[in-house]
Amino acid sequence: MSELVVAIAKGALYAESAARLRAAGLDVPEDPGRRLSVECAERTRVLFLRPTDVPAYVEFGAADCGIVGADVLWETDRHVCELADLEFGACRLVVAARRSDRYHEGAQLPTFLRVATKFERSAESFFAERDVPVQIIKLHGSVELSPEVGLADLIVDLVATGNTLREHDLAIVNEIARSTARFVVNPVRFRAKYDAISALLAKLDPAAVRA
Ligand code: PRP
Repeated sequence: MSELVVAIAKGALYAESAARLRAAGLDVPEDPGRRLSVECAERTRVLFLRPTDVPAYVEFGAADCGIVGADVLWETDRHVCELADLEFGACRLVVAARRSDRYHEGAQLPTFLRVATKFERSAESFFAERDVPVQIIKLHGSVELSPEVGLADLIVDLVATGNTLREHDLAIVNEIARSTARFVVNPVRFRAKYDAISALLAKLDPAAVRA
């Protein structure tokens, strides 16, 4: 049985998560391919998961700890303890609209617009805090397509390079929050495996990686 189980997110955070783990001495592949997990040195197993599934694996102790975006943590009901900001995978959660709609940045938006998003909870609280009633349409991907085909007036989505927004002729109207990769633990496992988890975290720390 593995001494330590680490859950990491596939997708945008994978390459840097794997690179950090390799720098920490774990033999994590650059590309996981279709593999779901790998057994590494020192009886450590690394699980390759969909980003939104990382908190569940950690909460229920199927993984002791994990690396996941803050954006995933904002949207989850799962209880995990965030131990560190690993300061990579920076992106912004924004409200965006078609450039032709001319909602300038920070504009007071009209009410009852349709807002397509994967980030239902963050979007709801953003508009509720501003007393702007909207209709949220929960999607699971390809959100940037929704304004151009008439599904939504606005989107709430992550922006990293801005290329996807540009490709779809969308412009940022508001920034909601900034996200980076976080190191999370199951608190019970953290107490039980304090030395192993602390040692891994120390190696994942950006200053330690740069040194
Ligand atoms: C995110 C986000 C945007 C894109 C933004 O999707 O939802 O679509 O990245 O990145 P950019 O500003 O650099 O173009 P991601 O590819 O992470 O995954 P998903 O759409 O499958 O959730």
